[in-house]
Amino acid sequence: MTFTLRMTVNGRPVELEVDHDELLLDVLRTRLDLTAAKRSCEIAECGACTVLVDRQPVSSCCTLAWDARGRRVDTAEGLARDGELNPLQEAFAEHGALQCGYCTPGMLMSATALLEETRAPTAEEVRHGLRGTLCRCTGYRGIVEAVVAAGAQRAGHAA
Ligand code: FES
Ligand code: FES
Repeated sequence: MTFTLRMTVNGRPVELEVDHDELLLDVLRTRLDLTAAKRSCEIAECGACTVLVDRQPVSSCCTLAWDARGRRVDTAEGLARDGELNPLQEAFAEHGALQCGYCTPGMLMSATALLEETRAPTAEEVRHGLRGTLCRCTGYRGIVEAVVAAGAQRAGHAA
């Protein structure tokens, strides 16, 4: 059975016919060609599939598309503006916060939500805030430094 899914994805209204049991991750990746969110554990444990729904991080591997109807969905594809990386993405590049990159889109979205909630998080707050997003490569140091730096930069700009 299908339904008409209407939602806003990265600022653009989207309308498409979707199965009732279709996952948000599949809609994004296979129907909308937004492949930043990755499939990995499929049990809401690794964070690779993290996107924001109404600004809150969710595991899209375990979220029905049905639950996104009428909502705002943000993916890593929407972070850059006019071909320019946003400050958080810049900080990831500057601090060596990625290697293979598989975790990076989910990490960026989790960090985006964290920075929305906490103006200039400490390293400890970043470690705590990103604890649900796993990285097999970096040892997390560069990631934590990048998020702290992006938060400090943003707080400085807002001051
Ligand atoms: S693939 Fe969704 S949390 Fe791991
Ligand atoms: S950069 Fe490879 S899993 Fe994080």
